[in-house]
This record gives sequence, C-alpha cells and structure tokens, in this order.
Amino acid sequence: MEPTGQEKERFLGKVYLVGSGPGDPGLMTLKGKGLLECADVVVYDALVSPQILAMISPQAEKIDAGKRRGRHSLIQSETTQLLIDKARTHTIVVRLKGGEPFIFGRGGEEMEALVSAGIPVEVVPGITSGIAAPAYAGIPLTHRNYSSSVTFVTGHESAGKYRPCVNWQAIAHGSETIVIYMGIHNLPYIVKQLTIAGLSLDTPIALIRWGTRSQQQELIGELGSIVEQVEQTGFEAPAIMVIGAVVNMHSILGSLSSSKLSN
Ligand SMILES: C[S@@+](CC[C@H](N)C(=O)[O-])C[C@H]1O[C@@H](n2cnc3c(N)ncnc32)[C@H](O)[C@@H]1O
Repeated sequence: MEPTGQEKERFLGKVYLVGSGPGDPGLMTLKGKGLLECADVVVYDALVSPQILAMISPQAEKIDAGKRRGRHSLIQSETTQLLIDKARTHTIVVRLKGGEPFIFGRGGEEMEALVSAGIPVEVVPGITSGIAAPAYAGIPLTHRNYSSSVTFVTGHESAGKYRPCVNWQAIAHGSETIVIYMGIHNLPYIVKQLTIAGLSLDTPIALIRWGTRSQQQELIGELGSIVEQVEQTGFEAPAIMVIGAVVNMHSILGSLSSSKLSN
C-alpha cells in the first residue's frame, strides 16, 4: 500500500527490506509492490525477477547490488553503506531481495547495520524459494503420510570465507524432509555427508531450478545417483533441493502444478 504524503514525511529516511519471492510476479506481496511503486531508491539483488523489477517506479533510482557466485557486483559492506547513505538523503529506500530477506538472505545483517546507524528499518517478508519451488513442482514439504517435520539448511558451507558449520549428521536425522539452498556446487559433499550419516542411497531427492518461473526445471532422482545425473544433464544453480519421501509426490502432483507456470 502506498504511503500517504503525511506518512512519507514520517517515513523520511526509512529502509524497507522487501522480499520479492522466488520469481513469479504473482507471488510478490501487495505491501512490497506498493513500496516499489513509490520508492525513491531501490537496491536489488541478482535473483529478483525482471517482472518484479518492472514494478519499480520509473522515477526511482535503481541500483544493482546483485551477487551471483563468482560475480559480486557490490561486496556486503558496500551494500550496507550504500543503504545507510541513501537513507540519509532519500525518503523511501527499498532493499529488494530474492525470496524472503531473513532466510539465507543476509537480511538480518543488513537490518542490524541499519539499526546501528540509527536508520529506521522495516521488513516486508517474501515467500521463500525453499517453500515455493517445491510447491510449484508438486512436492508438499509436509504430508500426513510421509513427513511431519522439515529442515531448511544452506549447502554453501565450503565456498567463500563465510563457513557455517552444518552438522549433516544431525540434519540427516533431525526431520523427515530436508530443504537445501545453494547446494548445487557442493552436491557431492552433501550427498557424501548425508549417506555417511545413514541416509540410504535410494532416498528420493528433487532439484528445482528457477522455481516458479517459466524456465523452471526439475531433476528427480535418488541420493546414490543424483551427482551423476547432475553431471550428465548439466543441471545448474540456482536451485532448491528437497530430500525425503515427499519427493515421491512429484510423480502424482508435478504435472498438475507445472501447468500454473505462465510468467
Ligand atoms: C542467497 S540464497 C537466497 C534465498 C532467498 N532469500 C529465499 O528466501 O529464497 C540463494 C539461493 O536460493 C535459492 N533460490 C532462490 N530463488 C530460487 C528459485 N526461483 N528457484 C530455485 N532456487 C532458488 C537457490 O538455492 C539460490 O542459490
């Protein structure tokens, strides 16, 4: 919803951390869309879809802070400083992020830095790709017959300086469905860790690339053979991985769900 003139005054120098969802423009929230339409500055990430960028006011200054593996447009500290600087000179600054800002999106770090700098900040949540991509592929993350728990985890742990210590032993047994973000480049390592932890080689796995977009691709297999399948097909990031019995639902619901893709 667009702020009124009076509210704009009150919002002077405010940063909105807005989640754009996984790509389908229909999954953008009304609140987020309203902010894009009245923003003075929009600082956006690489995974924001072109249809959502098209919602930005033509008058707004658009800054690409996109980060893709090996191609960092702006480093994190530069992005944070940019937001602080823009908030000091503009009324409505939107930090537009793929998916949900607080799920593997560094939204927490950026908000922390803004709060420390005395900048008012508000989060507008988005739909995370870890939920939306499986849904569009016909994979319910929970199901009364197959899974009553789900874990979201990063697979990015061996790349770059930041190394979260994922306890794969605990992940393997902590829930019936495992959803992994940023795991494609690290797939052989992840499969090895999960199978060492005791998951069987025939555990179902789905890889969903560019979920919710017209170019969505799915690769369905088993833990024991998925690495070879990825090599053979040249399947690439960005993708969400789902591991667990719920993946079998893809064969029943997958074709129905993909017919929704029209964006
Ligand atoms: C830095 S994380 C950002 C996640 C984002 N904050 C979210 O909530 O979806 C980037 C990773 O999210 C996943 N991702 C984002 N958009 C995706 C999409 N449309 N389809 C599949 N995976 C996606 C991929 O694993 C990608 O490497």
